[in-house]
Amino acid sequence: MAHLKCIECDGTYGVNEIIYKCGNCGGILEVVTDLEEVHKKISVNKWSDTSLSVWRYADFLPVNDRVNIVTLNEGGTGLHRCKRLAEKIGLKKLFIKFEGENPTGSFKDRGMTVGISKARELGVSTVICASTGNTSASLAAYAAKAGMQCIVLVPAGKIGVGKLAQAMAHGARLVQVKGNFDDSLDMVFKICERNNQIYLLNSINPFRIEGQKTIAFEVTEQLGISPDCMVMPVGNAGNISAAWKGFNEFEAVGLIKTKPRMIGIQAEGASPIVNAYRKKQRTIEPILSPETVATAIRIGNPVSWMKALNSIYDSKGHAETVSDQEILDAQRLLAQTEGIFAEPASATPIASLRNLLDQGEIEKTDSVVCVATGHGLKDADVITRIFGKPIEIEADIDAIEKSLNLLVKYDKWLEDPVSI
Ligand code: F0G
Repeated sequence: MAHLKCIECDGTYGVNEIIYKCGNCGGILEVVTDLEEVHKKISVNKWSDTSLSVWRYADFLPVNDRVNIVTLNEGGTGLHRCKRLAEKIGLKKLFIKFEGENPTGSFKDRGMTVGISKARELGVSTVICASTGNTSASLAAYAAKAGMQCIVLVPAGKIGVGKLAQAMAHGARLVQVKGNFDDSLDMVFKICERNNQIYLLNSINPFRIEGQKTIAFEVTEQLGISPDCMVMPVGNAGNISAAWKGFNEFEAVGLIKTKPRMIGIQAEGASPIVNAYRKKQRTIEPILSPETVATAIRIGNPVSWMKALNSIYDSKGHAETVSDQEILDAQRLLAQTEGIFAEPASATPIASLRNLLDQGEIEKTDSVVCVATGHGLKDADVITRIFGKPIEIEADIDAIEKSLNLLVKYDKWLEDPVSI
């Protein structure tokens, strides 16, 4: 039977207690899976009968009764071999795990299917989160599917329009808070303190992390082995630790022998984890006014910082920053060499690769998996801002041919599209 454990003082709690932080020391909690039990179950259950998805790994997940599962068919996302992009960067084996293929367009759905299923098991009727956009879109969709009320708090004017539209379309009660994500999350904690019937589904909720750990299982099965490096964006810092937990659990039940180095990437203007890593510290100094074009990770005081730092240190990994310009260049490069349209935060791993190679943090021959966490359509404003308005021309064949400048080679045009 699984239980909850404080990552700081090892205090333990039952999986059916509604609790987000340790009652003794305030540390954050994780689900401890009974891996011996899992080992027994997986040797009997046949995975090959189930397609690649979060619930393929139900034996590893802490939902007691399968009737409570709320699913929109999450997980099973593509692991794309990126030869053209790899060549441009100077790598041999580069893969993108494209989480934009999830039902609401981001990796959050992996965590939300488990989080909402647990909420149903606990008999909860109202759920809440603070969000930079994707969590709110995902929670709103799963709450709708489960017939629960959903409340979301987001930083005013600082989330992608697509994400805002998703939360609204799914019927969430949406509040734009004048402040940043960290202020919104603070308000959510306070609301839950005052109203204990409202269930919090940010990634501090350890059941979210349980769903998100399945990305490690999928990558391992898709590759047939662990990659050498997993490169992931870090915002509120839950996802990198979720993936690391997944690799550890697969190792513990004997499904893999090696684990990847976990490499966390943050934007220059929102990099408390990288700052701590550079100083070899085990604690962070929050950034009061985080700023970056990658609004999904515009976070100065990540709640799961300790889990993220542990994952990076324990895996002998690394943490690095990228500039806003590097993020936008990488987003465009990925879209135009591989046909994968990811949002800016999701392009941060790609943006970091040349630098990581130069520093010797990754080797040319390493197998590298970059997680593209969310779909580019969620934040289409960024693209139209950068590319400007497409040209408008009369329906006249000569004029259109002239403007398309059909003699210019495609590669040349890509380098300088606006000049024609
Ligand atoms: N990439 C995207 C697209 C995200 O939306 C987020 C987080 C991250 C990366 C970082 O993941 O927080 O687990 O380190 N988005 C949250 C939200 C904060 O509210 O949607 P993390």
